[in-house]
Amino acid sequence: MIVIGCDHGGYELKEEITAYLKEKNIEFKDFGIYSAEPADYPDIALRVCEAVVNGECEKAILICGTGIGMSIAANKVKGIRCALCGDVYSAKMTRLHNDSNVLALGGRVIGKGLCVEIIEAWLGTEFSGEERHINRIRKVMSIE
Ligand code: RB5
Repeated sequence: MIVIGCDHGGYELKEEITAYLKEKNIEFKDFGIYSAEPADYPDIALRVCEAVVNGECEKAILICGTGIGMSIAANKVKGIRCALCGDVYSAKMTRLHNDSNVLALGGRVIGKGLCVEIIEAWLGTEFSGEERHINRIRKVMSIE
């Protein structure tokens, strides 16, 4: 189960992502927003990230105009490791090395085709589980 959320800058891409998830029968919850009316990305990031840390979902996707605001806000939430990705390699590596639990995307930066490839790589890659990466993640979490 994944949760998805966006602000107005990410609304259009969020609609394309939810259509893709439905087509692929990937279970998700849409935490909005539900129109392109202006909304504040920290509000949505917090709601979505709370669902991850509460265990309501395992992973989440956040979209704003650049993905930057969402990723900054998400990474303030204890337990969240949010990766802003604009390429497939990073999406794969952040799962393998960082065990990221939130993916941030820039709705005004990438198009649907690349976005779908990034999501497929991110959802389809497991954390490597290697000791050195576990240690580094532990160190990151100890900064919280
Ligand atoms: C909204 O205009 C825009 O600032 C927001 O979507 C995001 O890109 C912020 O980082």
